[in-house]
Amino acid sequence: MLKGSEARHSDRPVDQSFLDRWSPRAMSGEPIEPADLMVLFEAARWAPSSGNAQPWRMMYGRRDTPQWPLFFDLLNDRNKLWCVNAAALVVFASRAITDSGRASVTHSYDTGAAWENFALQGTLKGYVVHGMQGFNYERAKQVLEIPDECRVEAMAAVGRPGRIEDLEETFRAREKPSDRKPLAAFVCEGVYRL
Ligand SMILES: Cc1cc2nc3c(=O)[nH]c(=O)nc-3n(C[C@H](O)[C@H](O)[C@H](O)COP(=O)(O)O)c2cc1C
Repeated sequence: MLKGSEARHSDRPVDQSFLDRWSPRAMSGEPIEPADLMVLFEAARWAPSSGNAQPWRMMYGRRDTPQWPLFFDLLNDRNKLWCVNAAALVVFASRAITDSGRASVTHSYDTGAAWENFALQGTLKGYVVHGMQGFNYERAKQVLEIPDECRVEAMAAVGRPGRIEDLEETFRAREKPSDRKPLAAFVCEGVYRL
């Protein structure tokens, strides 16, 4: 798998790991050992959250297990085309109520931090980790029996890198690390001038 930093260049000297994480679609179809997958969840566990509420909730299905169809069938048709070679599919949800019963303001924000830890750790271990919004959120809630106080946030596919040639044709040209807007597009000193 191409390292993101082989194709991307930051404008300022950030750690290479931020550039190395990207979202390939080519995966090999090999399974993942549960212990290996747990390392990614462990990284997510150490994300910061408001009041240390840790509102993230993750459900997963590994390929060749009875859980796999529950997750795979949630995907839209386009994501199914490449996720067929994933080793695991994960649904990230967040709990909008803290353990002490208060409404959480930052449950989605905190869960985003956990997802990024998950993705960075997966990349460091040589896995493809690819986030997805292209799935049926309502069905995910029903099928996975996610309680009402939780918001379904996103899914992710995890797998071993595969060959670009095996990807469906329309994905091949897009199989490269993307660029970013410059800092000036989203950072300003003082009031909002963006
Ligand atoms: C929350 C989220 C949802 C995404 N949804 C999809 C998706 O449904 N299908 C897909 O192919 N890529 C999806 N992506 C991948 C993004 O397009 C990708 O992260 C973005 O273009 C930046 O590229 P990079 O991750 O390679 O740096 C998603 C990414 C995130 C973080």
